[in-house]
Formats: sequence, C-alpha cells, structure tokens
Amino acid sequence: MSTFDAAPTALIVHAHPEPHSFSTAQMATAAQALRDGGYRVDVLDLYADTWAPVLAREEFAPTDGPFKPQAEQMRAVKDGTLDAAVKAHLDRLLAADLLVLSFPMWWFSLPAILKGWVDRVFVMGGVFGGDHGLFGDAALAGKQAMLLLTTGGPSESFRPGGAFGSMDDFLFHIHRGMLEFVGYQVLDPVVTYGPAHMSDQERAAALETVSESVALIAADSKSTAR
Ligand SMILES: Cc1cc2nc3c(=O)[nH]c(=O)nc-3n(C[C@H](O)[C@H](O)[C@H](O)COP(=O)(O)O)c2cc1C
Repeated sequence: MSTFDAAPTALIVHAHPEPHSFSTAQMATAAQALRDGGYRVDVLDLYADTWAPVLAREEFAPTDGPFKPQAEQMRAVKDGTLDAAVKAHLDRLLAADLLVLSFPMWWFSLPAILKGWVDRVFVMGGVFGGDHGLFGDAALAGKQAMLLLTTGGPSESFRPGGAFGSMDDFLFHIHRGMLEFVGYQVLDPVVTYGPAHMSDQERAAALETVSESVALIAADSKSTAR
C-alpha cells in the first residue's frame, strides 16, 4: 500500500447460501463500516456467484503422468494457464490490503464452498512457494486478514473449558494454517454467537456491535497498512 494511493482495499469473501441470513446482514454491516473507515470494498459472494469449490484436474492443462495439484498450480502460474475464474479471484486477492472471510461456523470450521475457495485461489506459486516462501516470506506478507463469523452455539460454550472448547483453538487452523501461512498478519476475529436464538432487537444490537468492532479494526489496520 503506497502512501499516495487514495484508499486501501478490503476484499470480503462471503459464504452463506441465504441472502436474508444474519451472516449476510453481518457481512453487509462490516462492508459499510469498512467503507465508512475509508476502505474501498470488494465483495466476493461465493454462493451468489455459484463458485465451484472443488479443485479438480480438469481446471489445469492436460499432463502426462500422475496429477499433482500443487505442481500443476505452480506450472499454471509459470505458463499463464491458470483457470480464468481462479485467476480473476487471485488478482482480486492480490489487490486487497485486507482480506475478510465472512461465514457461518459449520462443523467448527469453514463452509465447504469457502474452504474450496482457499483450495483453488491460494495457489502454490501465486501466494506461497515458487518465488515466494512461507509465512513472513509468502506473497501476502504486509497485508492483513480477519475472520467475520457466526455460530449456532452460545459464547459460553466457546470459552476455554466450555462445552465445545476454546474458539481460538477452532480458528487456529484457519489463522495459522491458511492466513499466516500465506503471509497475512491476522487481526482479531469478529464473532456473533448464536444469532438464531436472538430477538430482532438483539440481532439489531449485535449488528451495531459488529459495526463498532469493524470500525475499530479498520481504523487500526488502515494506519498499519499505510
Ligand atoms: C452444516 C452446518 C454445520 C454447523 N456446525 C456448527 C458448529 O460446528 N458449531 C456451531 O456453533 N454452529 C454450527 N452450525 C450452526 C451455524 O453456525 C449457525 O446456524 C449460523 O452461524 C447462524 O447464522 P445464520 O443465521 O446467518 O446462518 C452449523 C450449521 C450447519 C448448517
């Protein structure tokens, strides 16, 4: 991010099949808070765009011998033969100063459509490996990322020693294994616990809390990004 650029860019990658869900409202609230905080916001709505999440050999140029996905990703980057949809999303990813992954917690992890986005778009040779290293040497070093999620369970269940276990433990594989792995500095997650069990008034208050949390993150992260 150059100091001469007008505004940093946030890419929100959203994964919820229902446009009227709380998660989608939460994503829209966060997007507005980022815009109000001076970000240009780019939204990738994976369900609305019918994103194909399965990494398959058909997206790569034909090869003799066994199919090795990461070797094919490296080759496609080098030869300029990446699948057009993957390339378009990779370009949007590389253009963003802040990545926000927005999703409902499913099976204590990401919905498959979002996991598949990471499988296909966090391309070896494009964001790590090849000319890039891992973690601090990966292509997205110097950029920031955060998770924006909802849960079914209440916050008490996600405290250390709670019925489910610590939220930090559940998010570790995303924070460390996906985001830090490709270079991002990971910001605190914004989590709304159990929106399905809230009244309309409580949901409105929860969205207000999300807006305030994201505004604070935007203010901090924008000063770091510049
Ligand atoms: C396939 C699936 C798996 C789920 N797994 C979890 C889970 O592991 N932990 C949890 O707290 N809630 C789980 N839930 C509940 C959702 O997280 C919850 O309904 C959602 O976050 C609420 O937001 P929404 O109303 O925007 O969908 C799951 C829901 C589905 C459909």
